[in-house]
Parts: sequence; C-alpha cells; structure tokens
Amino acid sequence: MSRKSFGDVFGGTPAASADAPGRVNLLGEHTDYNDGFVLPTAIPQRTRVQLRPAPGERFSLYAAELDESAEFTLAAPPQDQFARYVYGCLHQLQAQGVRIPALQIHVDSDVPMGVGLSSSAALEVATLRALRTLLQLTGELDDVRIAQLAQRAEIEDAGVNCGIMDQMASSLADDTSMLFLDTRTLERRVLPLPAGSEVLVIDSGMPRTLAGSAYNERRAECEAAAAALGVKALRDVSDVTRVEGLPEPMRRRARHVVTENERVLRAITGIGPAEFGVLMNASHDSLRDDYEVSIPELDRLVGLLRAQPEVHGARLTGAGFGGACVALCRAGEAVAVSQRVLAEYGSRGRLLVPAG
Ligand code: GLA
Repeated sequence: MSRKSFGDVFGGTPAASADAPGRVNLLGEHTDYNDGFVLPTAIPQRTRVQLRPAPGERFSLYAAELDESAEFTLAAPPQDQFARYVYGCLHQLQAQGVRIPALQIHVDSDVPMGVGLSSSAALEVATLRALRTLLQLTGELDDVRIAQLAQRAEIEDAGVNCGIMDQMASSLADDTSMLFLDTRTLERRVLPLPAGSEVLVIDSGMPRTLAGSAYNERRAECEAAAAALGVKALRDVSDVTRVEGLPEPMRRRARHVVTENERVLRAITGIGPAEFGVLMNASHDSLRDDYEVSIPELDRLVGLLRAQPEVHGARLTGAGFGGACVALCRAGEAVAVSQRVLAEYGSRGRLLVPAG
C-alpha cells in the first residue's frame, strides 16, 4: 500500500514543509550527558513534515510511515509516543512566547525507527524547521536553538532523558562529513570523513528493550562518579588514572567516559581511516566491558564486521542494548561487505546505510 500524502489526508496542499535527517554516531558514545565530545554524521534517510493552519484549537497529525493519526490541543498532550515528539516541539515553541495556530500536520519518514539512528530527533528538528518557515521565525530560531528546543521537547514532553547529540546532529550535520561537537560549549566543527572511507550501518534486529531504564541508571552512575571526584561532570577528568580509586561500577563507567572523550579528540586530528577504525574498535570494547551497554548479538555483529578486510573498525552505535552497529569501510565496499556479513549473521540483520 502506498503511503498517504498530505492531500490524501487533509485535502489541498501544505503551507510549509521541511525535512531533517537521522544520524549515526561514529565516536563519542554516552559522553554527551557528561558534557563531553561526540562525532556523529547525518544519514541519508530523512523525515519530512508538512503543515497548514486549521480553524479552531485542535491539531491533527498523521504519520504516513505508521499510517497512524492523532488529535490533540496544546492544553492536552497526546498519548501516542510519535505524537508526543511533535506536540513537544509545539509546546516548547509556545513556551518561548510564540503564538501557534491549530495545524494539520503530515509526517513522512524513511529514517529507520527504534535502532539508534535518532528518528525522534529527525522528527523534532523537521517539525521545528517547518514551524520556523510557517511562522517566519528565522530571526529567533537558528539551527542550534532548534536543536535545544528539540532536546527539551524530548526530555520534558516525550519523557526521554537524552543529551543534546542527536538533535544537534540532525539540525547541523550532513551525510558527507562528520560533526565534532563539544556538548558543554556547543563549539563544533564540520570535518571530512577519514580519506577514502564510507560509513556502513547494520541493524542487529534486536529491540532496545533495556535502553531506557539502563540509560538512566548509567547517567546516575556517571553523576555519582563526577560528584565523588569533585568535578562538575566527567568531562572535567582528563587523567584516566584519577578514576582508579572509585568504587565499582563507577570506576568502569567513568573510565569509559574519560577514554571515549580522548578517542574523539584523537579522531579529529586528521588521522587516517585505519587509525580511526582502531578508535572505533576500542570504543566498542569499552562500551562492552566498562559501560556494559552491549549485548551478545551486537558483539557478534561487530566481530563479523571486523573480520572483513575492507572494514577499518566497527562498534555499536547509539545507546546500546540492541539496535545498530556502525562500521568504517573502504570507500565503495560497504554494500559488498554488508552482504557477506548479513549472510553469516542471519535474517534478523538488515542493511540500513547505505540506504538500499
Ligand atoms: C541516545 C541519546 C543521546 C546519547 C546516546 C548515547 O542516543 O539520545 O543523547 O546519550 O544515546 O551516546
């Protein structure tokens, strides 16, 4: 069945439309809520939001890829999770003093959902971009502000206690470069991917069931570690030996964050793909052993990827506990590599990037 268009659902044409990409994180995992460094890139898949003012107070939302609709007002948040992301953006913008008319909103997305590629950030950023166009907010809403409001929508309205990486990546990254971001100062740099390489993303097919609860637990452990070390955030620890006196599991959690920040800072010094791959491998090992957010299927997929001669390095990407792995491959080899890896991994797996 083909997806319903704006016209199919609401009739006529939208007054404004915008889109935004998902992201894959190359290095710097679980560092953003520690004020640390991240290195994501956008993926080619995007979410498009089209909207048009409507009479009255009710907002009508339709998500084509889910074939689901929701109705809500700004005073009464919707129940459906997908609608909460959109509602959150409207709500946060309203909290900035912007008057928002009732709207008909059509969403369509090919960003894979639930695999750690930030489909929610793409939805939030696309929604805020469409609102920026419709309400002529170019002066007030630059791309960083959009990311900040999107993060607030995700935390306060959708109930996901995330850092700012995903929204900054969706708002500021493109799929041919990597975005280095200091999540404390929001200082950023757009850098070329390591020479002669391309990004491969494969889904493990394992749902991220524990991701929410474990994510909050890890955050709390990091905050406890920072407090015990007398620093504002683990970003402020640059000498890894300082974590050695901490009790477990704080010692290993902090060691992951400190070494992961070091890896990101090394990765932006213009190193070649081979060394970048070594850093990605070390990141996965640290996420598996010190941060304990991997699962056997992710380890297996990473192992199969690393066994390919064209792969420089591979790791789980996103919060962990399921979802996707990212690998850095020799340019032009990603599809062939994915076919070999998927044949061995089994039918749960699927190629996500490059988009098939
Ligand atoms: C999720 C969160 C991000 C970040 C990653 C882990 O994607 O939304 O803010 O914390 O997990 O690096």
